[in-house]
Amino acid sequence: MKTLGIETSCDETAIAVYDSEHGIIGESVYSQIKMHAEYGGVVPELASRDHCVKIIGVLKEAIGDLDLKTIDQIAYTSGPGLLGALLMGESFAQGLSTALNIPLIPINHLEGHLMSPVMEFPEIKTPYLSLLVSGGHSMIVDVKERGSYEILGQSQDDAVGEAFDKVGKLLDLPYPGGPHIEKLATAGNPKAYDFPRPMMHSDNLNLSFSGLKTSVLYTVRDIEDLNDQIKADIAASFQQAVIDVLSKKIKKAVEASGRSDVIIAGGVAANKALRSGIKDLESSLGIKVYYPSLKYCGDNAAMIAYVGSLRSSDGGNNKASSVRARWPLSELSK
Ligand code: KG4
Ligand code: ZN
Repeated sequence: MKTLGIETSCDETAIAVYDSEHGIIGESVYSQIKMHAEYGGVVPELASRDHCVKIIGVLKEAIGDLDLKTIDQIAYTSGPGLLGALLMGESFAQGLSTALNIPLIPINHLEGHLMSPVMEFPEIKTPYLSLLVSGGHSMIVDVKERGSYEILGQSQDDAVGEAFDKVGKLLDLPYPGGPHIEKLATAGNPKAYDFPRPMMHSDNLNLSFSGLKTSVLYTVRDIEDLNDQIKADIAASFQQAVIDVLSKKIKKAVEASGRSDVIIAGGVAANKALRSGIKDLESSLGIKVYYPSLKYCGDNAAMIAYVGSLRSSDGGNNKASSVRARWPLSELSK
């Protein structure tokens, strides 16, 4: 069975085809990041318009020589995300499903991030823990089985990626700051600044990053000559604070849940220092840590096509809108 996945929840226009026998057989992602970089963040109106312009080209590239008539069903991200951007993807999905007369399945974007590592590592079996760290979300989730997710802890304020991006701005780095901070940090001393590790020792699994970001803000404000070495030291010290907090919380989550497989998903999972920091927990906790390959850390349609292939359609190609800007995991059906 072939499932075509469509992802337009934020600033990536992505389409992929998942074949139940052969896995991903075609995929394409167009990132709008350069367009938004000029504004220092994603501009929702521009994002919707650009999805509209780019989606046909992305479809062509994703399917290549594949005949669209061989697609059995369409899965698309219907939330959470930017409303206009989601509506754009939904309209496109509805048009295709009507033209091809095949079913349509709305997919929760977070479920895509949580489940897709199984696509790459079939040996992962539920239940497992997932640390989902992206620009919009920071949560530790107990993935009990497909469709059943318990959030064990989550950020009470900024998401981790958001904190990276805000600190990036403070250091005059281009948007999004995450990858630039990682690069800059390689030349810095992670012990140069003793930034706070918010909620690290709280007895729950919740997270908080706005105090850390504010501490970086005050540090930067008080430095007269913010030269390249100081910037690198700040980047490395900030990154280390994030890694320390996340490692500690993963440790707690493993101890509390007894799970032995941990996956790290979302855009921030691309960070190599974070990867190795959490990988270090493997031997002491007796767990196995999995990371999606870099192309599946950020937003992509392969994860949507894959989850679509697992979810059965109600058989229809509904014209009503299923789009939701907010769609908590707790409201997912199996
Ligand atoms: O999952 P994603 O592509 O989009 C959503 O937010 O859904 O995540 C984007 C976030 C941005 O905040 C970006 O700065 C961060 O992931 N990011 C990184 C790295 N690569 C991307 N943060 C730290 N280190 C990285 N290498
Ligand atoms: Zn995402």
